[in-house]
Amino acid sequence: MQKILLIGSQGQVGQELKKTLPQTGEVISVTRTELDLSDPGVIVEVIERIKPDFIVNAAAYTAVDKAQSEPEIARKINAQAPAVMAKASKNIGATLLHISTDYVFNGQKNTPYLENDSTDPLGIYGITKRDGEQSIQEVGGRHIILRTAWVYGAYGKGNFVKTMLRLGQEKELIKIVCDQVGSPTWSYDIAMRITEILKNIEKVPTGIYHFTDSGSISWYDFAMNIFEEARKLGFAFKLQEIIPINTHEYPTPAKRPAYSVLSNQKLTDCLGTYPPYWRDSLKKMLVQL
Ligand SMILES: NC(=O)c1ccc[n+]([C@@H]2O[C@H](COP(=O)([O-])OP(=O)(O)OC[C@H]3O[C@@H](n4cnc5c(N)ncnc54)[C@H](OP(=O)(O)O)[C@@H]3O)[C@@H](O)[C@H]2O)c1
Repeated sequence: MQKILLIGSQGQVGQELKKTLPQTGEVISVTRTELDLSDPGVIVEVIERIKPDFIVNAAAYTAVDKAQSEPEIARKINAQAPAVMAKASKNIGATLLHISTDYVFNGQKNTPYLENDSTDPLGIYGITKRDGEQSIQEVGGRHIILRTAWVYGAYGKGNFVKTMLRLGQEKELIKIVCDQVGSPTWSYDIAMRITEILKNIEKVPTGIYHFTDSGSISWYDFAMNIFEEARKLGFAFKLQEIIPINTHEYPTPAKRPAYSVLSNQKLTDCLGTYPPYWRDSLKKMLVQL
């Protein structure tokens, strides 16, 4: 039976992985308490002690705006820790599956981003995630880098869907950005895709892959859909009106890509299965809530 070390098991993707990965092997999950990614010595010690066949890294510094004022800690977690993991993984002959982000791109394209498109991150979070990808590639061990986007789910500290449901109960009017387009992706679908990759690892060569749910939409349209679906399920809201606004009307410390749809073709070709449609997954997540 193969051994899988799951790093970041308390995050929104990590908690789903804890449920899905046992389909493929014995899972040893670690949280920040057992493995603090800001300590390279601990990363090496844990990997050498457990000697897994796979390391799945679902941990990251994910506070996109806060990263602008904490670049050193973001760099440690998102760029330096993956490099240490990659070296330790290579030394024991393991495969590292590392999660990355659509924010490595500048959003100037208007057709889905391919894995080999040039990266050009707009903020510290994206820069450190891009550097993490590059350091894993430079180490040269067996790895899968899975870029995803617009993640939401039932677990974790917060995400767009949970924020909308809360705001809908608190406010009569909210304003949502309508000029940023992406693919909302349920954390459970990411966990299932990673599990499918590990089950079919011989079909997925070392490299970068994209995975999001299918389809694309603006944050504004996504919010409209969240409330429509939630009302059908009986959620009650104080909310009366959602107003579409442009990005410049909602300034944030970190710039976001205007268009960050990722092409799913490469991984679909490897595995022969296609990602779920985002709206079907949204409905399932709301039912789960
Ligand atoms: N969220 C999105 O919209 C999005 C979009 C694209 C890509 N991604 C990528 O998807 C992956 C999973 O994201 P997510 O949304 O599941 O993130 P999340 O919910 O913020 O979880 C991140 C996890 O990383 C852990 N972590 C942070 N610093 C750590 C440290 N120093 N040592 C050990 N663990 C640490 C956190 O631990 P604590 O629980 O102790 O804080 C948390 O459990 C990340 O690689 C992220 O970059 C996310």
